[in-house]
Amino acid sequence: MKIEFELNGQPICLEAAADRRAVDLLREDLGLTGTKEGCGTGECGACTILVDGRSRLSCLMLASQLQGRRITTIEGLAPEGQLHPVQAAFARHGAVQCGFCTPGMVLTAVDLLARHPRPRADEVVNAVSGNLCRCTGYQKIVSAVMDAGDTAPMPCSHQEPAPNPTPCAIPDGGRPGGTTAGRPVWMPCTLDDLWPLLAEHPQARVFAGGTDLLVWLRNGKIDAPALIGLERIDALRDITETADAVRIGAAATHETLLADPILARHFPVLQQALRTLGSPHIRHVGTIGGNLATASPAGDTLPPLHVLDATVTVQSIQGTRHLPIASFITGPGQTALMPGEIISAVILPKPAAGTRQHFEKVGLRQAMACAVASLAAVVTFDKAGAIDRACLAWGSVGPTVVRLPDVEAALSGRWLDQETLDAVRPLVSRHLSPISDVRTGADYRRRVAGNLLLRLAGDGQTHQATAVRVEQAS
Ligand SMILES: Cc1cc2nc3c(=O)[nH]c(=O)nc-3n(C[C@H](O)[C@H](O)[C@H](O)COP(=O)(O)OP(=O)(O)OC[C@H]3O[C@@H](n4cnc5c(N)ncnc54)[C@H](O)[C@@H]3O)c2cc1C
Ligand code: FES
Ligand code: FES
Repeated sequence: MKIEFELNGQPICLEAAADRRAVDLLREDLGLTGTKEGCGTGECGACTILVDGRSRLSCLMLASQLQGRRITTIEGLAPEGQLHPVQAAFARHGAVQCGFCTPGMVLTAVDLLARHPRPRADEVVNAVSGNLCRCTGYQKIVSAVMDAGDTAPMPCSHQEPAPNPTPCAIPDGGRPGGTTAGRPVWMPCTLDDLWPLLAEHPQARVFAGGTDLLVWLRNGKIDAPALIGLERIDALRDITETADAVRIGAAATHETLLADPILARHFPVLQQALRTLGSPHIRHVGTIGGNLATASPAGDTLPPLHVLDATVTVQSIQGTRHLPIASFITGPGQTALMPGEIISAVILPKPAAGTRQHFEKVGLRQAMACAVASLAAVVTFDKAGAIDRACLAWGSVGPTVVRLPDVEAALSGRWLDQETLDAVRPLVSRHLSPISDVRTGADYRRRVAGNLLLRLAGDGQTHQATAVRVEQAS
């Protein structure tokens, strides 16, 4: 297909397969080898580029997604041969050894500093948590980024998104732009464009952020004859509020949900979970609809969505269905989606005032950790302050999210304190039958799931889990 975009300040137009990875197009077709490829699966950050000023992983982006975008690679950061202030700070602080991670690290820092010119150390640590460095050590990198923010205004001209990204790769009456070899990729901009594509191409896979799908295609877990991207459909990204519920568009990204004040007010348990999901790069493009459709037992939004009584809205050219989340997810990696249907939204009823919400995830490391076990809870209290209703959902300890009605019933009418939780914890172990896998053993999972319950009492405040808790596996 013909692809037009801006690359390091210059307009560019080229022919490429629509499904060619952006990292390959940049490195192999355009010779911009400053963009590195480490893992190829979203875990190392070496391939970071700026897309409309925001850092994004070029190994999880297709050529067709470049259309109309403003792309900056490390080569475009210092076009006159003079180091960009972030590069200069890295050199001053000795924040570079082998240099393999450095282009991705620098571009991630440029994005951060354009949005937060004076970040705290913990904000820098969070920003680069998806950029792996094996040899320098993060202390020098963090110091360099903070120093760059202190010493120079960012001369980055790429903060603003391209005002009107030349969007739809549905030229010629809906034909994919693909003349070059490779599977066709459509990027519709409206639902009206999407429905006929889904009807005409029932075998095509939809994708939103691509943080699952493009990894599966890469490692051969699935194949798909054609792809349909949802990221340009504005109608799928809205967050709207009514008197008693909030509707979240399925293609809203995790980052958007984390920044949303309506969600912060009503659904802190969802935001607590999102803070632990992947890395900033993953949260920047990954979506709630994608997390739901993947239906992984370890999907971080799923336990919160269960305890918040979420309804999943699925839509097709034929109409709309509303399914409670427990009916929508039918098994590990399985959902009630029918051919031609997409998830269009998730609807969350607003909880009563005074409800306590809590999420905690235990992983084997602090960043980019897949859950060994997680617990989401929404607890309401009666007038006397005793537990009226406890909704609890565990992740990663069963084929899908696990609810334990006996445990919920045992908590009802009691005080939310350590004595109550100690008394109820054995029920958790009794009713759970997790599996052993590459991450950990079943016994350890069962024990962690019980311990997570113990932490529910906390300090009486909503627990803000900002990082994944790491427990020593035994
Ligand atoms: C490095 C890395 C770390 C990760 N860490 C975590 C983590 O800590 N926790 C976690 O839960 N997940 C994690 N993930 C998985 C992934 O990021 C999430 O599941 C994410 O929410 C998927 O959203 P997406 O938009 O990228 O989905 P995509 O990859 O675009 O799609 C995933 C699946 O959903 C389908 N789909 C997408 N949108 C829709 C829709 N609207 N309607 C119907 N079907 C749809 C696709 O067909 C596909 O089957 C990680 C992934 C990577 C690469
Ligand atoms: S190459 Fe590792 S994240 Fe892209
Ligand atoms: S400098 Fe070698 S990996 Fe970071």
